[in-house]
Amino acid sequence: MKKSILITGGSTGIGAATALLAAQAGYAVAINYRKSKEAAQKVVDAIREQGGVAIAVQADVGVPEQIQHLFQRVDQELGALNVLVNNAALLEPQARFKDLDYDRLQKIFAVNVLGVFVCSQEACKRMSTASGGKGGCIVNISSIAAKLGAPFEYIDYAATKGAMDTMTIGLAKEVATEGIRVNGIRPGIIHTDIHAKGGEPDRINRVKDSVPMKRGGTAKEVAEAILWLASDKASYMTGSIIDVSGGR
Ligand SMILES: NC(=O)c1ccc[n+]([C@@H]2O[C@H](COP(=O)([O-])OP(=O)(O)OC[C@H]3O[C@@H](n4cnc5c(N)ncnc54)[C@H](OP(=O)(O)O)[C@@H]3O)[C@@H](O)[C@H]2O)c1
Repeated sequence: MKKSILITGGSTGIGAATALLAAQAGYAVAINYRKSKEAAQKVVDAIREQGGVAIAVQADVGVPEQIQHLFQRVDQELGALNVLVNNAALLEPQARFKDLDYDRLQKIFAVNVLGVFVCSQEACKRMSTASGGKGGCIVNISSIAAKLGAPFEYIDYAATKGAMDTMTIGLAKEVATEGIRVNGIRPGIIHTDIHAKGGEPDRINRVKDSVPMKRGGTAKEVAEAILWLASDKASYMTGSIIDVSGGR
């Protein structure tokens, strides 16, 4: 029986690269998407063409009922869940702190924080050896913005990632004796469509000189670290957060 991995927001960018790499590593892959149905199907097709197992499941992780449905589909189609990658995130257009309106704040915290909490609760219910599960791993995709604060751009987004890092540390300690490891990755500036969503498609060019390695990273470079943390090679790691940021 293949190990299974659920990647939220797995249709594009870092999530898609993780899905492809996970399939190559022998996982059965569940790709969650919110609206990028075609992109999700492309990832599923690419995995199946190489003889792998993959499904795509639509769900908005900002809506708890949809998260329940997502996990039920994974139960039914892939069996016991081994790895959850909390990768889905919202980034709204760049704005000054004073202009972050309440609706925007509610939306971004609902997806990037509450969604991660609820997905992780569902995963722990299934994985915990205390409730008959076989253990497992959670990998939280944070951001180097949690350390930098993202002034003049998106302090709201950065703060959601800070909350995620705190959750990684607390949950890791709480479930350490239940067979569950919880770790995080803080990517730096990575070549994906997220910068266009933030209103500046060419952002990497503008800020790359602030990166010691003087370049943006690739989604695959982040995916490699995610898969390593999820693997038995990282068996003594929990509550750790790794920066994949070119030194930024
Ligand atoms: N790229 C970077 O420079 C960078 C840096 C630091 C951290 N990160 C983090 O890396 C992760 C992946 O981002 P990315 O760069 O790969 O960008 P991306 O390609 O825009 O991926 C974000 C994904 O999240 C999904 N998503 C958004 N809201 C969702 C919701 N409510 N429910 C379910 N899925 C939702 C999107 O799916 P739909 O299109 O279907 O909505 C999309 O596939 C994010 O957590 C991001 O914060 C990225």
